[in-house]
Parts: sequence; C-alpha cells; structure tokens
Amino acid sequence: MTEQSSNQMWGGRFAAGPDAIMEAINASIGFDKRMAAQDIAGSRAHAAMLAATGVITDSDAEAIREGLLTVLSEIERGEFQFSTALEDIHMNVEARLKEIIGEPAGRLHTGRSRNDQVATDFKLWVRDQLDAAESGLLALIRALLAQAEAGADWVMPGFTHLQTAQPVTWGHHMMAYVEMFGRDLSRVRDARARMNECPLGAAALAGTSFPIDRHMTAQALGFDRPAANSLDAVSDRDFALEFLSVASICAVHLSRFAEELVIWSSAQFRFVTLSDRFSTGSSIMPQKKNPDAAELIRAKVGRIFGANTALMMVMKGLPLAYSKDMQEDKEQVFDAADNWMLALAAMEGMVKDMTANRDSLAAAAGSGFSTATDLADWLVRVLGLPFRDAHHVTGSLVAMAEKKGCDLPDLTLEDMQSVHAGITQDVYSVLGVDNSVNSRQSYGGTAPDQVRAQIARWKEMLP
Ligand code: ARG
Repeated sequence: MTEQSSNQMWGGRFAAGPDAIMEAINASIGFDKRMAAQDIAGSRAHAAMLAATGVITDSDAEAIREGLLTVLSEIERGEFQFSTALEDIHMNVEARLKEIIGEPAGRLHTGRSRNDQVATDFKLWVRDQLDAAESGLLALIRALLAQAEAGADWVMPGFTHLQTAQPVTWGHHMMAYVEMFGRDLSRVRDARARMNECPLGAAALAGTSFPIDRHMTAQALGFDRPAANSLDAVSDRDFALEFLSVASICAVHLSRFAEELVIWSSAQFRFVTLSDRFSTGSSIMPQKKNPDAAELIRAKVGRIFGANTALMMVMKGLPLAYSKDMQEDKEQVFDAADNWMLALAAMEGMVKDMTANRDSLAAAAGSGFSTATDLADWLVRVLGLPFRDAHHVTGSLVAMAEKKGCDLPDLTLEDMQSVHAGITQDVYSVLGVDNSVNSRQSYGGTAPDQVRAQIARWKEMLP
C-alpha cells in the first residue's frame, strides 16, 4: 500500500496516512453524505451560538455562515467533490469550508466533536423521516376511509383460520386496517416527541469548558430541549432503534394487508381488481395480471425488521460513550426508511385505485354456512335453548345442508323441523347475509351503522 500524508483534520500526531483498507473500512462518506443538509444546519446553529456567547467573533461567524451556504449549494447542484480520505460528511464539509473561507473555518469545531455532531445530524435526519412517515400514514388512512365509506354496507365473508366464519362488511374490514395504521401513526408521533432532545454541545462525551449555550442551539434546530446528559447524548441511538421498531410494526401491518390483496385479487377470489397502474404482466402468460406491488410490500418487512435486528445487535453491549461501531447505524436506517416510505406510498396508490367487486364479495359472503351462528343465536333467543344445545342443533342442520349440497337458507322448514320440532318460519329472517351483518350492532361490530360511526370518529380525529 502506498503511504499517504496524514489526515488533515486529525493527523497531527500521525507520521503516515492510513492503509487503503483502513480507509475503506473507516470511511462513511459513501452513505452519510445523505445527511449533508442536516450537517450544515447543525454547523450553522453551532456557529451562530459560538458568536452569541462570545466564543468566536461575529465576523468569523458570518464568514462561516456564508461559506456553509456555498457548500450546501455546491452539494445540491451535484458539484461537490466528496473525498473518502476525509472519512465522513462532517470532515468533508469542514474541509471544503476551509478552502472557501480560510482560517475562520478552523474555529467552527470549537466546543463540539464529531460525536455530538453525528448524533445531532442523524437525529435531524430520522426526525424528517418520522414526519414523512406521518404524512404517508395519513394519506393511506384517508384512502382506506374512502374505500370504507363507499362500501360501508357491502357484505363479504369474514374469516378465521382463513375459513369462512361470519359475514362482515367491506367497510368494517377496511376500518380494521385504519385502526392498525392509526396506532402506527400514534407510535410515530410518540417516537418523535421522545427523541426530540438535542445532543449538540455534549462534545466528545464530557461537555466542554467553553461557555456554550445548548438551549440556543437546541431551539435553533427545532428540538424541544438539549439532551440532559452528555455521555448519554453522544452514545444514545434509541431514537434510531425506536424508528426501526415503529417501522417494523407498521411493515407487519402493511404485509398483512398486502397478503390479503394478493389473495383477494386471485381468480379464485375475485374480491378486488387492482388497477393497471399497480399491477404487472407476465412475459409468457398473456392473461396474467400480477399483484407485484402487493407482493413487494409483503416482502419489505423482511429488510425493515432485518435493519431493526442489525442495529439492536450493533448497540448491544457497547460501553459508554461513543464507539465507532455506531457508524453502522446509518445504512440500516437509510435503507429501512427508504423502503418504508416506498411501501406506504405504494399501498396508498393501490388502495386508492382498487375496485372492490361487490357481487363477488356478496356471493362469497353467503357461502360456507356463514350464517350458522345467526341460526344458533335464533334458537337461543326465540326457543330459549342453551347456547351449547343450539350449537349442536345448528351443527346437524349444517351437516344436512352439506349432504344436500345447498346452503342453510335453502333447507325447507320440514328439513329444519326434522332436527328440532320447535323451529318456525321466522328462522329465515336471520339466515340472510344482510340480516346477519345488520344484527351485529354491538360497539365496534360489523353492522353498517357501526362502521359509519367508526368512519365518522376517524374523520373527526384526522387533521
Ligand atoms: N462517521 C462517524 C459516525 O458516523 C462520525 C463520528 C466519528 N467520531 C469519531 N470520534 N471518530 O459515527
């Protein structure tokens, strides 16, 4: 390996530069350049504070401010030359600042360290992603509400064990996902509120002897307060772990809905038709329309939860305070965030575009003896049978219908009475699927009135 000159940022005590392999394992610029805007925002806040507290002069602060704006615009225009020798985004920005403004650039790093700098940048980045997740979730919830409203009283089979259980309404099924994504939304908001403390000014680990004002930088960067303990501030990655945990739970919800869309869009079910915009064709089978977006959303939980596991393992057992292990946090979070946002947007698009096939839903709702529970309940309510006996009588009637190859409402009154003599014509009033769903008026139940109440409650709560 050829010897290079030592690092211009920290090489004072070094006679030789790093081995190429050292540089390769050490550098993070290949990925942490995504935090350039956050890094520059943090430096601007820090420089302004250093001037306000008299640590640097106003004219140095002004030169730093203008220089940083130039660096930012170079990065935004794609003109910035990122250097691996300069390791990371923090030193790349500072080195370029020095080229532009000269000596005052060297004063920017007073009273701070890359340890509090990276924690601050990364928090700002994660905070932006929590805000993006909030918008994505709200848009998805709105799309689900529109589906629920359109089909509040459309009947479909409800399943347990993926076996037909009892009829439910389309609106009810959509609103179940609104509840899930609503809890994800509240987890996103909780995580944001908890993480919003500023690490800047914790310096390397112990704080600084300069008379800095951490409240001022915290406020300038939109944090609620400075982090209270400098050791914790530089070594905390809970905010990233919590982001990945929240993302993982939401990805699980997305995968469950995606799985249902895959099943529902199959020729065997035909419950929904996905739009052309969110489907793909097959290169060999001309008839195919594949639910690829749903399948990919179903799979995203793998990498998102993988990132969660990876960072948990990186952080496990790390002694205080900062260790370079923590540089492994970013790629996991970046990848998980990108894929979470994409999955949310794709799901919103699919839900907005999809058509529920009301007739197929209704036909399936009536099959599979889905109103057997209603029959048993009628035997209890009208004939006064204990539920266990009613369950038994109904089971015999289901067996009879199965043998005859018909559904429960197709059995004659004579058939019914051969199993239990007390059954009257009135029983047919509960055997229809619409009667069944309309009777489920308990709070949160599937009756269209209840579903409309759920929709109204959500509409009131949404911003
Ligand atoms: N690139 C580093 C990271 O992402 C920045 C902090 C480096 N701090 C240090 N003391 N070497 O973690």
